[in-house]
Formats: sequence, structure tokens, C-alpha cells
Amino acid sequence: MTGGNTGNGRAAPPHGSETEPVKMNVRDFNLYYGHFQALKNVNMAILEKRITALIGPSGCGKSTLLRGMNRMNDLISGVKTSGTILLDGIDVYGSAIRVDELRKRVGMVFQRPNPFPLSISDNVVYGLRVAGIRNQKTLKEKVESSLQAAWLWEPVKDKLHHPALELPLDQQQRLCIARLLAVEPEVILMDEPCSALDPIATAKIEELMLELRNHYTIVIVTHNMQQASRISDFSGYMLLGELIEFDDTQKIFTNPENKKTQDYITGRYG
Ligand SMILES: Nc1ncnc2c1ncn2[C@@H]1O[C@H](COP(=O)(O)OP(=O)(O)O)[C@@H](O)[C@H]1O
Ligand SMILES: [Mg+2]
Repeated sequence: MTGGNTGNGRAAPPHGSETEPVKMNVRDFNLYYGHFQALKNVNMAILEKRITALIGPSGCGKSTLLRGMNRMNDLISGVKTSGTILLDGIDVYGSAIRVDELRKRVGMVFQRPNPFPLSISDNVVYGLRVAGIRNQKTLKEKVESSLQAAWLWEPVKDKLHHPALELPLDQQQRLCIARLLAVEPEVILMDEPCSALDPIATAKIEELMLELRNHYTIVIVTHNMQQASRISDFSGYMLLGELIEFDDTQKIFTNPENKKTQDYITGRYG
């Protein structure tokens, strides 16, 4: 198994990355929905300021694993976990970090854009308001900088007080990204963020992700294997709750070690 922990806070290499810092580290992680085991002993190191893609057939646990990383599964009754997930070496399931703090540091973008039924600017600063920030100048600056960072400023700058839900879908998705960036996360989890978008809008989000990689650690679930191979540095192939293989994206897509991975990427699966 590549991508394991060497115990010194570094990732065991996906090839050639021995010295890169680990942002999150999934260690012997199991997750059960009631009696059903959805994740089986998953080990994976997420390297800082890199894009890691999770691929695999529907129902194999990709979303479950992603939600495990910021404890979104806690909201589902009957969920039990064992093993751990570390964020900068701190157990996110332990008492050293509060769940709201975790979700601020490890934010999430969903399949379907989910802006609140508020104005564009109120969406962007929603998290800051919840955190008690009231200073109008600060909020205004944050609206602009976050929209700029999500490449949405130009199209919306003259209608910041319009309802967010009036925006086209791809702009709604970038608004959700702006809303996330406003609270200054460290890790961005994206669960099939382009699945509701057309190819042009998808290309725009992909380009944005490559830019965001300069500042953030990104984990993306995607059904689109071209997308995984275009934008990610590392890829994990999941099947029936197991992380079958985890390695450099190029290796996964050109010369995977595991026959199951090979069958999937060459379309022989199922
Ligand atoms: N809230 C839930 N309650 C019970 N089972 C669930 C729940 N969410 C997902 N599952 C099951 O866990 C498995 C993994 O689901 P999921 O993580 O959504 O897969 P993927 O994202 O790879 O399609 C599936 O068998 C799914 O039916
Ligand atoms: Mg899913």
C-alpha cells in the first residue's frame, strides 16, 4: 500500500513525494451505517496544497470517506467509526478540536450548488456573520476578495444584492466556493462539484481548482476519469468500501499496480 504513514508526519510516498507535508492522514478508518460497513480500513495521506481525487463506481464509499474528513457523517444517526483521521496531526475525532472549528478548516462543496435563498453578498459573508463579524467594511471587502478568488467578481459585481438563486448553475457553484473561501479554510472537499454542470462550466471550475491548489489542499470525488487525470496529483481508487489503490495520478491512469484498478480505468468494470 502506498500513501501510508511513516510515523513522522510525512506521507509515505505516492512516488517521489517523500518530503511533502501531509495535511490530512486517514488511518485504519472504518465507518458503519448501523450494521453496514461502508468504509473498510482506509489508509490515505492527503498532501498539502495538492489535489487528491477519489474515483470508483457509485456506492463504493467515496462520499462517505469525504464526509468522514470533516465529520459530516456525524449528522447521520447510527453512524459509527473506528480508526482516525488526522488534520495537521490532530485527531479530528478526538477532543482537541471542536466540530465547528474542524468544518471551518475543512470545508465542503457539494454535487448540486446549494446557495442560501439570500442575496449574492449575504451568501458570501454568511459564515462570517455567524462567527459574529459585523464590521461593514470588513464584510464588504470579504465579499469582493472571495468572489475574486472564485472568479465570480466580474459577472456579479453590479448585482451583489440580487438573489443568489437567480444565477446560472455554474455561477451558483462558484458562489458556494466563494462562500467557503470567505471563512479561510485550509482543506476543500469537493463531492462531484461539476456533475450538474455542462462541459464549458466544468472546464472553468477545473481551471479554478488548479488556481486554488496554490493556496489550499483539495480532495475531489469525481465520476469523470478525464477530470481526475487532468487536474489531480494523486488518485485513489475505491471499490466496495476499500481503498484499492492510491498513488500518483499518472501512475494510476497509466500503470496501476492492482488488476481491479486497471479493469476500472480501462472500462472493464461491471
Ligand atoms: N446515510 C446513509 N445511511 C445508510 N447507508 C448509506 C448512507 N449513505 C450512504 N450509504 C451507503 O454507503 C455506501 C457508500 O455510499 P457513498 O459513500 O454515498 O458512495 P459513493 O459516494 O461512492 O457513491 C453505499 O452502499 C450507500 O448505500
Ligand atoms: Mg457520492
